[in-house]
Amino acid sequence: TFEVELARTGGSVSVGAEETVLDAVRRAGVDHPSSCEMGICGTCETRVVSGEIDHRDNLLTEAEKAKGDCMMICVSRANCPKIVLDL
Ligand code: FES
Repeated sequence: TFEVELARTGGSVSVGAEETVLDAVRRAGVDHPSSCEMGICGTCETRVVSGEIDHRDNLLTEAEKAKGDCMMICVSRANCPKIVLDL
């Protein structure tokens, strides 16, 4: 479980082991687009304000993953207790 803080909307939501970041932010009231929900299309791409990301998509290059300023929230998760997203 980790925390996702929503920088634009305000508030935060905790992401359980069995749910995706996408599900959690939707639960928090953010109407975020998605399509494949498998980390391959890029529709759910979200800007990361802070936090270390556990990238699990098949879309970003290794360099983009290392830079860590965006993530596919349908599959990727946090590698730290709290991440802040531009949502
Ligand atoms: Fe396709 Fe997330 S919905 S990459």
